[in-house]
Amino acid sequence: MMARYTHFPALLSDADAEGIIRLCERFGSYGMYGQKPIEEDLGHGLYQRHDAAMNYIRTGGRFGRHESFEQLSVRTNYFRETYAYDKPVVDGIAGFLWHQGFLEAARAVFDRPVIAPAIVYANMLVPGQELAVHTDVPEFRGANRTKDPEWLLVVMHHSQLFDRWRMPIATGVAWFRGCRGGDFAFYPDGADGQPATVPAAHNTAVLLDTDSVFHGVDRVAETAEPLPPLQIGMRLTYAGDDSWRVGFGDETVVRYRWDDIRFSVSWKAYCYADEAERRMVEEHTDDLTRPQIIATLLADIRKRGRLGDDVPNGTDLALLLIDEYIRFPASAAEGAAAG
Ligand SMILES: [Fe+2]
Repeated sequence: MMARYTHFPALLSDADAEGIIRLCERFGSYGMYGQKPIEEDLGHGLYQRHDAAMNYIRTGGRFGRHESFEQLSVRTNYFRETYAYDKPVVDGIAGFLWHQGFLEAARAVFDRPVIAPAIVYANMLVPGQELAVHTDVPEFRGANRTKDPEWLLVVMHHSQLFDRWRMPIATGVAWFRGCRGGDFAFYPDGADGQPATVPAAHNTAVLLDTDSVFHGVDRVAETAEPLPPLQIGMRLTYAGDDSWRVGFGDETVVRYRWDDIRFSVSWKAYCYADEAERRMVEEHTDDLTRPQIIATLLADIRKRGRLGDDVPNGTDLALLLIDEYIRFPASAAEGAAAG
């Protein structure tokens, strides 16, 4: 697989880039993004992104580090808020939402002309945080994260069995202010190819199909050892004077300098072949159903010799599907072992 991507060495004008930083401060408070265990029978007890978490624990990530699930949670539960959802939800983001360069690059990445920007959100990683290698949660007509587990949507895309229903999404990621560490690492030539890295430099961006291209964020340079006890529900709040604090409510568990934080803004847009396809989505005239999805996957793993007469329970079935369909890039340690 050769994936196209576009790098933007200067995404916005200096003044507009400065405007995004002021918007980030003005917005002021960012909630910690964490995952809850799945409650439905299929994949019961697993995490939404069990695929990426288990791969990280098993391989130690790109650098073969070994950490517990708890440490991994602290490292990867970063802070996130939404700046636009179909339309701006904060002042000062419209120019980013409708950025001409992003729109053009999105048309090129899938060779699809009708681009509908859907969401802009801010991601803040504090020192010591990183993002395990993963592909993003894709979407299909009739299947999306509002009603289906995220790991299942990822399995569906990697299986290539549901391509007819896939809604291609282009993702742009832009960085502002810059930070130490925190490179964007990705596999533009596929999971078997070499990784490439892009530094999270001020006012630069990349745009690519992050639902297909494995990617992650290398660790943001640490300022304290061990990591502070970050917990889900804490917020990262701008405290003025180039400093941020983390804690529940008014408490401060840890403070950071602006320069130590990695601030990125993500942009996602649906890419349609034509208006007819867009209407098909809106009018739900060709939607997948859950029974159809499961029947298709079961038939395929049976054909691949991975399933006998008995279908395993919901948790084991999920683990089997993840194992069968999602082929992660080898970590540096595994690559070395394999020669
Ligand atoms: Fe991602």
